[in-house]
Amino acid sequence: MVKVCVCGAAGGIGQPLSLLLKQSPLITHLSLYDIVNTPGVAADLSHINTKSKVTGHKGQEELEEAIKDSDVVVIPAGVPRKPGMTRDDLFKINAGIVRDLATAAAKFAPKAFMCIISNPVNSTVPIVAEVFKKEGVYDARRIFGVTTLDIVRASTFVSELIGADAQSLKVPVVGGHSGVTILPLLSQVQGTNALSEQQIADVTHRIQFGGDEVVKAKDGAGSATLSMAYAGARFALNVIEAAFNGGKGIVECTYVSLEAAGADAVQSVKDLSGEESLEYFSLPVELGPNGVDKVSPVGAVSDFEKKLFAACAPELKGNITKGSGFVKQE
Ligand code: NAD
Ligand code: LMR
Repeated sequence: MVKVCVCGAAGGIGQPLSLLLKQSPLITHLSLYDIVNTPGVAADLSHINTKSKVTGHKGQEELEEAIKDSDVVVIPAGVPRKPGMTRDDLFKINAGIVRDLATAAAKFAPKAFMCIISNPVNSTVPIVAEVFKKEGVYDARRIFGVTTLDIVRASTFVSELIGADAQSLKVPVVGGHSGVTILPLLSQVQGTNALSEQQIADVTHRIQFGGDEVVKAKDGAGSATLSMAYAGARFALNVIEAAFNGGKGIVECTYVSLEAAGADAVQSVKDLSGEESLEYFSLPVELGPNGVDKVSPVGAVSDFEKKLFAACAPELKGNITKGSGFVKQE
């Protein structure tokens, strides 16, 4: 029995994400929570003849029932960007939303694998971690910032340049999830040595600012939803496969607390960022029965990538401090 609760299930990401999750035979109960429209979304999805039971829950008074005993909680709740905004501009609205959902999860589903999509991910993941610490149920291995869209974009953009198959091309993207904190490691990808320095710089920038491309094209109507639903479903289903279906060797780059990482991975982040105290970082994570099983170190990087690490560190540290501080100061 695997219960998955999607918080923000009626939104631009929430609806297609729930549709993709509804297709999985590994999920037995798909619980849809939002402050609006979930009865309709749930009724609609419930007619699909796949395994999971679908329930809809609307409003604060139905949150406990929605989230109770969930094995996985996926959170795409909150406001998206409009042109001219940074992800950090979303903090003042989304921080409180994520804190309240995390509080409900900590109380009613303390063992759930938490998959955080709401931006700014660099800060919302520390918020969830601090809430779980406050409630005395923290396990660093079970809280994930979903950065899969960066990896999906990197595979698409790089394969277009080197002529590889996009679905099988693995491009590690580490760091955080916003602009210069997104660190694509193209030097670790076979075939990229054929690219010029300018091509590497251009595609790196495109991966770092891919979200802006969509925000601009949507022209005020929000940010990436469909590609995010694809990426979010891929990540959540991989967590489920590893935790509940004996899946082995499943590796995804994801933004986690370095408390869940071994000394070699922690040291690699320190060495490259020049920062002693970065507490969260996206790294390649092998998933297992308890969530994070093994975190890989960054590995060899080019001189160009070393400069990206230096640019990432201060911004990421500020984002982390802001997120943790939001809960700690209460
Ligand atoms: P949206 O506005 O279309 O949907 C958000 C949903 O959240 C709405 O249905 C809204 O009613 C709901 N919501 C608001 N407050 C809530 C609460 N307290 N409890 C439950 N639900 C609540 O937005 P969207 O396009 O789906 O984006 C959602 C979030 O995902 C944004 O913060 C966006 O920046 C982020 N995002 C992250 C990534 C990533 O790579 N991690 C990618 C794309 C978007
Ligand atoms: C993305 O990368 O598409 C998301 O983080 C949404 C955004 O604001 O760009």
